[in-house]
Amino acid sequence: MRTSETNLAAPALLDTTSLDRWVQQSPVIPVITINRLEDAVPMARALVNGGLNMLEITLRTKYGLEAIAAIKQAIPEAVVGVGTVVAAAQVEQVLQAGAEFIVTPGSTEALLQALIASNTPFLPGVSSLSEILMGYEKGIRRFKFFPAEVSGGVKALQAFAGPLPDIRFCPTGGVRPENLQNYLATTNVMAVGGTWLTTDDLVREKNWAQIEQLARQAAHLCQNR
Ligand code: 3PG
Repeated sequence: MRTSETNLAAPALLDTTSLDRWVQQSPVIPVITINRLEDAVPMARALVNGGLNMLEITLRTKYGLEAIAAIKQAIPEAVVGVGTVVAAAQVEQVLQAGAEFIVTPGSTEALLQALIASNTPFLPGVSSLSEILMGYEKGIRRFKFFPAEVSGGVKALQAFAGPLPDIRFCPTGGVRPENLQNYLATTNVMAVGGTWLTTDDLVREKNWAQIEQLARQAAHLCQNR
């Protein structure tokens, strides 16, 4: 074996301080899609009033970036991130919009490189050990586990903890009030994410009171973790 193979330098670990602090305060991350820009601020305010201040605004509609800027301006206590970032070229744009963290549904080499270069906290999506290792070897220790329920849920997360006990996940995809506590009780889960707090029906009805109530219920379910 060549010397260079035996003395491989370990990659520097990426700093997780901000992410860890945010999720400790707010371990449920609403995954939000904005269909009308006017909904962004009242929806975010309802979630924050209910006790959830870490928000993921997806790029699934054309309003995503504007919504991030509007929420940040109106609700300074919210931690506003961006989700559904699927290409390296989007990273610069989301930083300009003011995204405080970046979430991707999956991981590619180019995307991981762009996320690392962004110097912004991020959660790359993974659903298999091989994808996790792709990030692990770059010093990444925090991931989104997506789609969580169909990828093995809590049992898969427990299995990942065997070989990689220093990784923490944010399972998303199929997380609901019924299974939220099981996820949060799993040792390598840092937070959960989901769309159940801001369903299309509730937002169409502008039912901010119910969204606040769902946020409060979710925040309450996290209290004894
Ligand atoms: C995501 O992108 O994180 C998912 O759409 C969330 O999944 P859910 O709708 O099952 O919560």
